[in-house]
Amino acid sequence: MPTREFHAPSLAVSIGKLDLQNPLMTASGTCGYANEYGDFTDLTRLGAFVTKAISKTPRKGNEAYRIVETRAGMLNAIGLANIGLDAFLKDKIPILKEMGVPVIVNVPGWTTDDYVDVSARLNDEPVVGGIELNVSCPNVKSGLSFGTDPVRLFELVSAVKKVTTRAELIVKLSPNVADVAVTAKAAVDAGATALSLVNTFTAMSIDINNARPMLANGTGGLSGPAIKPIALFMTHRVYTEVAKKHNIPIIGMGGIQRWQDGVEFLLAGATGLAVGTALFLDPNIPLQILEGLRNYLARKNKTDIRQIIGSLQAPAPHD
Ligand SMILES: Cc1cc2nc3c(=O)[nH]c(=O)nc-3n(C[C@H](O)[C@H](O)[C@H](O)COP(=O)(O)O)c2cc1C
Repeated sequence: MPTREFHAPSLAVSIGKLDLQNPLMTASGTCGYANEYGDFTDLTRLGAFVTKAISKTPRKGNEAYRIVETRAGMLNAIGLANIGLDAFLKDKIPILKEMGVPVIVNVPGWTTDDYVDVSARLNDEPVVGGIELNVSCPNVKSGLSFGTDPVRLFELVSAVKKVTTRAELIVKLSPNVADVAVTAKAAVDAGATALSLVNTFTAMSIDINNARPMLANGTGGLSGPAIKPIALFMTHRVYTEVAKKHNIPIIGMGGIQRWQDGVEFLLAGATGLAVGTALFLDPNIPLQILEGLRNYLARKNKTDIRQIIGSLQAPAPHD
């Protein structure tokens, strides 16, 4: 009797010109600059490594507490603490080069020039495959504005587009808006080559013993399993309303912790899958998700992960 040869399903995906061995990546701010987790997991097996936010100059960030646990989630107000662009280029880029995994650098900013200057210098570094604009960090005062106003977002992305001649230009959308498809469209119209979503939801937690917020900053960003169903909905909305018709890949994130979560995001339209808060539980979770995805595809007789991206059978919208 002839035996059927088994071929492991292909997990390779592309974010624009950036070819990834699989969709799994770190979510910005949850895995340091480079190999801080190197002793705990094999980051070279991931599709891409996404750095924490790198600003033009070093930042101390907010006072403690900067992180508190909530039921089914995590609240953070780190305040974009980082070593700044010069130190990043000098000390971290060589480590990232050595790692040999596609690198995406997260870029925050408070003025258009901040974003343009940092993006221009990163665009000159061949190891940087993608620049992810953090237009949505709710932790820094007035940081909401670019990501929540489609007109300002369009202007910002258009300005950065001029200097991002080589690297992919990924815009990370804020969920703190009435309709995320509106800001997604503004970003794509301005030249974004990929979208990532979602960043954290503005939220708070109160210490009832002294009637003060738990976070020194007052408010912070909620992440983890608590936000997954909303992040999933937003991913699907952006996919159907914007990304699919413009052929723009989405990096989905928000509470991804198990392989089943990854499958849901892929079905909803995500091409990449970023894991953030779950890394605090176990840095190996992305690799476990990878294994689960591979088995799921084989069980479903799929030869290529791209066969399931955006394949959700959603009911037709009502009148
Ligand atoms: C501690 C912490 C720090 C973060 N720092 C950044 C950051 O520097 N830049 C950014 O764009 N997003 C940052 N985020 C948001 C995550 O990248 C991600 O969008 C969000 O946490 C949702 O994914 P998750 O539920 O898997 O954590 C941070 C999240 C956490 C928990």
